[in-house]
Amino acid sequence: MEITKDIKYVGVNDHKIDLFEGQYEVPNGMAYNSYVILDEKIAVMDTVDLAFKDEWFSNLKKVLGDKKPDYLLVHHMEPDHSANIADFIKSYPEAKIVSSEKAFAIMKNFFKTDFKENQVVVGEGDKLNLGKHELTFITAPMVHWPEVVVSYDSTDKILFSADGFGKFGALDVEEDWACEARRYYFGIVGKYGGQVQKLLSKASGLDIRIICPLHGPVLTENLEYYLDLYNKWSSYTPEEEGVLIAYTSVYGNTKKAVFELEKVLKEKGVKKVVVTDLARSDIAENVEDAFRYSKLVLATTTYNGEIFPFMREFIHELAERNYSNRKVAFIENGSWMPMAKKVMLKMLENSKNIEYCENSVKILSSISDENIEEINNLADELL
Ligand code: FEO
Repeated sequence: MEITKDIKYVGVNDHKIDLFEGQYEVPNGMAYNSYVILDEKIAVMDTVDLAFKDEWFSNLKKVLGDKKPDYLLVHHMEPDHSANIADFIKSYPEAKIVSSEKAFAIMKNFFKTDFKENQVVVGEGDKLNLGKHELTFITAPMVHWPEVVVSYDSTDKILFSADGFGKFGALDVEEDWACEARRYYFGIVGKYGGQVQKLLSKASGLDIRIICPLHGPVLTENLEYYLDLYNKWSSYTPEEEGVLIAYTSVYGNTKKAVFELEKVLKEKGVKKVVVTDLARSDIAENVEDAFRYSKLVLATTTYNGEIFPFMREFIHELAERNYSNRKVAFIENGSWMPMAKKVMLKMLENSKNIEYCENSVKILSSISDENIEEINNLADELL
């Protein structure tokens, strides 16, 4: 695949993977992107996952022919991109590895060598001239690991953005970009919005025409759309007006209240209401939706003097990712001593700028007439 006249794609599609990074479902697989710049000097941008070593070397050889690469640029040391560094150096011992100081320290942990003979350390603003193409390095700590650098090719106006602007899904499957990019973003870097904002601010000074991430498609058109979404996500700004009702239910009583609330909200004209059973759905999808919409209703049972485990895990994932700037309401259930609302509030105590609804629903085992009134009041407040 040709990105520009001098820049070729040598990445791979992974349809064998069960869980990305050992936890994320990827029904449409995963792409590990890698690129080659063919200039007076030849630069290879990152490697791929270990399981695709042979395919990657074969792709590389097709593009290189008899030529030898001068540089391997390592933007990120996570093994889905870096696993083949040692084998690359075995094949091309003369090549230099260009990366950040922290990356070489991590390389030593993974490979038991930091490739002293091949090292070129780069930091903020450093440049690498390949002939016609000149790359400028921009540090991007915690997007997604501390050693990350991105690079900008001022000739073809390309940002090599590492994990930034990546998504789940292999490149040979057609699917909506935003859905799987959002799930990827909040799962992988949702905690590091501040650092993503810093990177966006540095990138705003560049004339970017193409974004080449390490996962997902190369972005060539309508870049404003992607940049705008990244700005919203990383500033924890809701992307859409809407209500997510996330619930757990043991015997169906909490669930009844949830569906009653959904019905009333829709009757009152709320256009976007999404309901999810936390025990029976993908948690990463639920986390994504919590950040997507402006309002969140948490409905759960008191359990072991605490809350139901799936809800505890869900709120933990939100709090860990700096869930903020939203309206939140509670539906709690308990047969003798309802504790759920208190526990949920405590779990969100460090979340900033949360407006808690004054109305909440307290179910004692099963729904009462009073609960129906509480649901109506809550729906009015959520409007
Ligand atoms: Fe795609 Fe953070 O590695």
